[in-house]
Amino acid sequence: MLIKEILALAAENQRTTVSGWVRTKRDMKNLVFVEVNDGSCFSSIQCTFDRSAGLAAELEQTLAALTTGCSVELCGALVPSPAAGQKAELAATGLTLLGAAPADSYPLQKKGHSLEFLREIAHLRARTNTIGAVARVRSRLSFAVHTFFQTRGFQYIHTPIITASDAEGAGAMFQVTTLNIAELARVGKQPDYSRDFFGKKTFLTVSGQLEGETYATALSRIYTFGPTFRAENSNTARHLAEFWMIEPELAFAHLEDNMKLAEDFLKYLCADCLENCADDLEFFNARIQKGIIDTLKSIVSSTFAHISYTDAIDELEKQKERFEFKPFWGCDMQSEHEKFLTEQLAKGPVIVTDYPKAIKAFYMKANDDGKTVRAMDVLVPRLGEIIGGSEREDDLSRLGARMEEVGMKPEEYSWYLDLRRFGTVPHSGFGLGFERLVQYVTGMANIRDVIAYPRAAGYAEF
Ligand code: 4AD
Ligand code: MG
Repeated sequence: MLIKEILALAAENQRTTVSGWVRTKRDMKNLVFVEVNDGSCFSSIQCTFDRSAGLAAELEQTLAALTTGCSVELCGALVPSPAAGQKAELAATGLTLLGAAPADSYPLQKKGHSLEFLREIAHLRARTNTIGAVARVRSRLSFAVHTFFQTRGFQYIHTPIITASDAEGAGAMFQVTTLNIAELARVGKQPDYSRDFFGKKTFLTVSGQLEGETYATALSRIYTFGPTFRAENSNTARHLAEFWMIEPELAFAHLEDNMKLAEDFLKYLCADCLENCADDLEFFNARIQKGIIDTLKSIVSSTFAHISYTDAIDELEKQKERFEFKPFWGCDMQSEHEKFLTEQLAKGPVIVTDYPKAIKAFYMKANDDGKTVRAMDVLVPRLGEIIGGSEREDDLSRLGARMEEVGMKPEEYSWYLDLRRFGTVPHSGFGLGFERLVQYVTGMANIRDVIAYPRAAGYAEF
């Protein structure tokens, strides 16, 4: 049984076996306490060996050999615990040491380690309280993402990871090739991509949206949930080169429907976590981000603020002096601006809409003013942008013209334009960065600590 299941047992004196890794051992004359954790839940189980009736010499020897990190199997009877904060403990009688973890070489000792240090031993860091809790919350949130959509008529679509199209037009993509670049360089030749593996230039996807749209305009409601790749050279606490994104796409839906879905979605995820990750959240609340539980509760009961980009810039301009980067209409919002809007102005999440077309992707629906598009970003305190989305341009000629305007070749996207050529419908969608969500829910400051093996510029260890 897992420790999570054992701790939930009310039965007294039930015999059971505990398997896990030793967190601590305390030798107190007549009693030896061994804390064992198996990662199934935040709590460790306390296992107690009672010397008052004498312990076998062999058992004493094994006990003496126990150090932090070694793997063990113990058996005994589950008894009510006199210690505070735990219902049950194991009155242990048997002990097997499965694998040693010598104290002079095992890097995770009892003392707290910095998150920076833990990143260097990412293959062992899931054995710590913090990273273990992050992993459980991340797993639960994945499940909740699927539950949310599956119970609302959305079909899960697997979009390709290797693609020839550039969905965001941001020009920061990883190329996929089997051409021998070194050899070509040696003989001074330019690569001929028609002779590459796919017969053309291909990349790792930056978004599954375009392919997602093809299924939304057939199945009405779809979502994707998969890895995405961006070769941005930004070394920040909220950017990764490889991250997971959730992208719902709805047919017969306008920007307002999209905003409503995004708000319902975030609230659902927070509520689910509050209910199902209570112990882990208690830990984050006490040790990582004070007040995070109240923040999540307030998200669930709040109504998100809405503001247009133009009004937001007006508000920011009123506060010009505060900002290092002076806001002006047409600028891409900096994180100091997003921070102000969420933390000072709205004091909570805020949805900013109708951005200038020049700073948004080609596929967003144009407003009649000729300057802005039906875009929406959901900004949250601490992190800034957590969701980006829009209503899509559903008019064939407008979309074609916009593509040419931004230097794309419409003929290369004729499959995408077919969605407007045949049975076009208003449709909308958004993308939620999954790691930003995990950061938001746990309060973890650095995105590299909410994914098992972070990939970022200059960093692809393990
Ligand atoms: O705003 P973005 O670029 O939007 C899209 O990719 C659209 N195709 C989504 C859609 O409408 N279907 O990215 C969406 C979200 C961002 O709001 C952010 O949360 C996350 O993805 N994101 C990143 N997360 C981690 N590291 C990065 N480098 C990220 N870039 C974007
Ligand atoms: Mg964005």
